Amino acid sequence: MRYPGLLETYRSLLPITEKTPMLSLHEGNTPLFHGEKISDMLNMDVYFKYEGLNPTGSFKDRGMVMAVAKAMEEGSNTIMCASTGNTSAAAAAYAARGGLNCIVLIPNNNIALGKLAQAMIYGAKVIAIEGNFDRALEIVRDITAKHPITLVNSVNPYRIEGQKTAAFEVCDQLGHAPDYLAIPVGNAGNITAYWKGFKEYHAQGKSSSLPKMIGFEAEGAMAIVKGEPIKNPETLATAIRIGNPASWDGAVQAANESGGQINYVTDDEILDAYRLLARTEGIFAEPASAASLAGLMKLHKQGQFKKGDSAVCVLTGNGLKDPNNAIEAVAAEPLVVEDTETAVMQAIEKLGGR
Ligand code: F0G
Repeated sequence: MRYPGLLETYRSLLPITEKTPMLSLHEGNTPLFHGEKISDMLNMDVYFKYEGLNPTGSFKDRGMVMAVAKAMEEGSNTIMCASTGNTSAAAAAYAARGGLNCIVLIPNNNIALGKLAQAMIYGAKVIAIEGNFDRALEIVRDITAKHPITLVNSVNPYRIEGQKTAAFEVCDQLGHAPDYLAIPVGNAGNITAYWKGFKEYHAQGKSSSLPKMIGFEAEGAMAIVKGEPIKNPETLATAIRIGNPASWDGAVQAANESGGQINYVTDDEILDAYRLLARTEGIFAEPASAASLAGLMKLHKQGQFKKGDSAVCVLTGNGLKDPNNAIEAVAAEPLVVEDTETAVMQAIEKLGGR
């Protein structure tokens, strides 16, 4: 059967009217992988919700299809967002699909190469500021408050509505909610959206339980963990290099209501999980995404789980977004050799390839 995209699939659970255009790039319906080897390692049942297989390569497509459809319904012709990269890629793509103008504000020199390429090729007006994401979001909020431009960051409630559909899919794919939902936390919209989705599905009798929500910030950007905004956030996981999360309260509420927690992981822990995922499970996610697995492993080391507990790690973005970090993470260049069979065989021996 043809998969119609999120708006049609979850029409009755989304703020859709007869006037809402059924915008779609066939987002959602992403796979839930069982991590055989990592489950064995941790003595748990670990799954990966691979959001990198959305049309622009991240979970942002779920919220953006809803936000842009509503912008069109309301007669807007321009959308705008601040972004560490993925939101801008999604905004640019759906604006192109819907025939709207798109303006994106990004922190100069601090977004992954693939994400910049996406915003440019989809035709967004891309402006890089000499400041970080938090500052970009402040500026976008000021401009969209004064001009007829629709704000499509996750402070736009339609973004959260669209993103909550990932929780529906997890319940449907597993047949129930997992014991734990591990997720990276940046601006904190996604953890807020998942928790809303799990609660709604539960209230409707579509899942019998609720997961404990465990969210992970990067150590250099752990505003919620510290309980205060961070002026100059730093992490190699640029997607979550955010010092003053807009949905702070939503994240705290998700953790508290579910009996979970907001914790943090170091860049080294992120890199270890990033490589492990690729090498043991064959899944290439971007560094920020690996914060979910890194966090699960950290809590596992602390003895916080029981044998057989189930956990879903949300892998928010595709590894191809950030080729530079991938190459740096393995600290090796391809071996360049002469174009002969002998030279190639020698190289195979040298690399220990057999
Ligand atoms: N993972 C990736 C790959 C992201 O791009 C983001 C956020 C997050 C996790 C965190 O999600 O903000 O809802 O807590 N990226 C935003 C952007 C900020 O502009 O693309 P969050």
